[in-house]
Amino acid sequence: MARVALVTGGTRGIGEAICLALRDAGCAVIANYVGSEERARAFTERTGIPAYRWNVADHQACLDGVAAVEAAHGPIEILVNNAGITRDATLLKMSFEMWKEVIEVNLGGCFNMAKAVFPGMRERQWGRIVNIGSINGQAGQIGQVNYAAAKSGIHGFTKALAQEGARFGVTVNAIAPGYIDTDMVAAVPANVLEKIVARIPVGRLGQAQEIARGVVFLCGEDAGFVTGSTLSINGGQHMY
Ligand code: CAA
Repeated sequence: MARVALVTGGTRGIGEAICLALRDAGCAVIANYVGSEERARAFTERTGIPAYRWNVADHQACLDGVAAVEAAHGPIEILVNNAGITRDATLLKMSFEMWKEVIEVNLGGCFNMAKAVFPGMRERQWGRIVNIGSINGQAGQIGQVNYAAAKSGIHGFTKALAQEGARFGVTVNAIAPGYIDTDMVAAVPANVLEKIVARIPVGRLGQAQEIARGVVFLCGEDAGFVTGSTLSINGGQHMY
């Protein structure tokens, strides 16, 4: 039986690439999304991957969403916490709402989704959780105290849950992408992005597929000894 994998924020950008890579690796993949229904429908038509709508920042919605997915497709054995947003501004201009929203989606979402799937994984003695962090959670970034704090939190969350899951065959790892060619990065002002790319030793933005490749590795049957780790995929921009 194919393992059931759920990818949050799975209908676009890095999430979409992860969905496709896990599918190609033989998983039965389900995407979660919160934004455009139309885009999600097009994604499902294009890929054959079902998409379920709920907000990962909403604790009850995560419990209900996971229950619905499991009723239709079977127990979730692989969770990729990929959903994330930016609300960039320097601290002076950042509102409390911008802070709260990013913390609740990017970090709260990991807690909410793990709460929903971890008990089953633990009971079945097998599971893979991959949390998508960020170079900016490792190194900080102008205009991102909210995002950097949330992503940095993800790295701590990963190490703590890895210790809880280890005895039960549940691995928990993080990937810290650098600047990847997605809509999120395209939203960075061009003059700023130019400066950032100039600091990437590989000399270019990353591709979403280059992150997905790392996810497939961490979710493998033979990756059971890899837990609590952070895999940096950033073109050499930050060596941690
Ligand atoms: N690196 C280098 N310099 C930067 C910078 C950065 N990341 N961000 C801002 N600056 C510089 C600007 O170039 C500018 O310099 P000059 O005065 O020499 O022109 C100065 O800081 C002030 O910046 P702005 O004029 O842009 O100030 P603002 O108040 O209008 O906007 C900002 C500030 C919102 C931080 C805006 O600069 C911005 O959006 N920066 C990008 C932040 C960023 O990198 N976000 C990452 C999004 S992608 C992501 O998060 C995915 C991931 O995980 C990697």
